[in-house]
Amino acid sequence: MKQHTTIAILGGGGKTGTYLVHELLNRDYQLKLLLRQPDHFTISSPSIHICKGDAIQYESIRELVQGCDAIISTVGQRPNEPLVASQATNHILRVMEEFQIRRYIAVAGLNLDTPTDQKSTRTQMATDWMKTTYPIIHEDRQKAYEVLAESPVDWTLVRVPFIVFTEERGTTEVDLVDCPGEKVQAPDLASFLADQLTDTRYYQQSPFVASL
Ligand SMILES: NC(=O)c1ccc[n+]([C@@H]2O[C@H](COP(=O)([O-])OP(=O)(O)OC[C@H]3O[C@@H](n4cnc5c(N)ncnc54)[C@H](OP(=O)(O)O)[C@@H]3O)[C@@H](O)[C@H]2O)c1
Repeated sequence: MKQHTTIAILGGGGKTGTYLVHELLNRDYQLKLLLRQPDHFTISSPSIHICKGDAIQYESIRELVQGCDAIISTVGQRPNEPLVASQATNHILRVMEEFQIRRYIAVAGLNLDTPTDQKSTRTQMATDWMKTTYPIIHEDRQKAYEVLAESPVDWTLVRVPFIVFTEERGTTEVDLVDCPGEKVQAPDLASFLADQLTDTRYYQQSPFVASL
């Protein structure tokens, strides 16, 4: 994908999303952000266009994605709010078909299961903890994956361990069957997500990414 194209971002006002926005601005992309509370967003750039809306609303996603070349989501479930992952995924896939957009990249936790996983005891413990502690959120995330796995688009679900919000970069490790580390540094994750806009290796896959 050529640069100077427009990327739709969901969750761009969140912790990971903020790193991602800076990374994409540094790479000269034009950005469209879906924000529920634009007044709380502090990054200012002529390359950013803000759409006010909610990821569970189809019309918000449609307005966001129109005119974009690819979509990246770092949306996370807030407590006591309607489930967002599967609804947003369904809306995204519908508008991708409408606007003939091929590329969708999103962040997920280690708890997501895929058929080719060979999770270590440590990764499986993190998975089991999430399933036990937040069963409904886990099921909704898993549902979002199942919908994507059946879709024809070029999706990548990036599975990450604990995210460290630092300015330091590490060495990024990627593994398709198990998580290669206990943490990922936010600048490494932002860089990996941005790389996916031009990297075809992980199409229709859910790589684990960690920082060493
Ligand atoms: N933090 C970690 O250590 C960790 C570890 C593993 C996986 N993850 C995953 O990585 C992703 C990013 O995590 P994070 O810690 O950066 O999350 P975060 O700071 O909580 O950000 C989540 C973002 O999602 C947005 N959002 C939630 N519901 C929305 C909705 N209905 N419509 C539009 N936007 C909505 C929030 O917007 P508002 O401000 O409007 O609520 C916020 O910008 C999440 O998917 C999370 O599950 C995180």
